[in-house]
Amino acid sequence: MDIIQVDDKQFSIYLKSPQIEAAVDNIAQQINVDLKGKNPLFLVVLNGAFIFASDLLKKITIPCEISFVKLSSYVGTKSTSIIRELIGLDEVVSGRTIVIVEDIIDTGLTMGATIDKMKKLEAKDVRIATLLFKPNAFQLNYKIDYIGINIPNDFIVGYGLDYNGYGRNYPEIYKILNNE
Ligand code: IMP
Ligand code: MG
Repeated sequence: MDIIQVDDKQFSIYLKSPQIEAAVDNIAQQINVDLKGKNPLFLVVLNGAFIFASDLLKKITIPCEISFVKLSSYVGTKSTSIIRELIGLDEVVSGRTIVIVEDIIDTGLTMGATIDKMKKLEAKDVRIATLLFKPNAFQLNYKIDYIGINIPNDFIVGYGLDYNGYGRNYPEIYKILNNE
């Protein structure tokens, strides 16, 4: 299935399973070495990161905890800036090594807000693991510790990523066709 229809748009196959698996493997191996003895807490950012996190965490061989958070964004009544709130975080973050797990970093604003939250909660070390990164869209300047695959600024779906809520269930990653 090289072309798929998701909602009102067509997408073509872009990253196949072997390439995705290799990228996930590579991140897991680095984390297993870097964070040995650090008892990390993985924070998976829902919804998009659920498939990546599932594949990644099966390859983590060091003792760790795993939790899931969701970001809710809303427009403030007095300003148009988007404020993102982390919901679902029950674990103690203070003094811990945190690995934030994301599907994709685009402008970087979502991850930037999440990092700020972790710092406010006094995490000892905040690491970032993202399957995909769009370097040409990135607007901030924090370090991204673990990147699976760098991609151009095309809109993609599959492997957890959605278009209008659809397409997350595809096991491989597709790129938008005729993006007007
Ligand atoms: P940000 O621009 O880095 O803040 O990315 C915000 C969120 O937009 C990501 O966590 C994704 O959920 C979503 N996103 C960014 N690029 C894509 C894409 O190409 N396809 C699907 N979702 C995307
Ligand atoms: Mg996401």
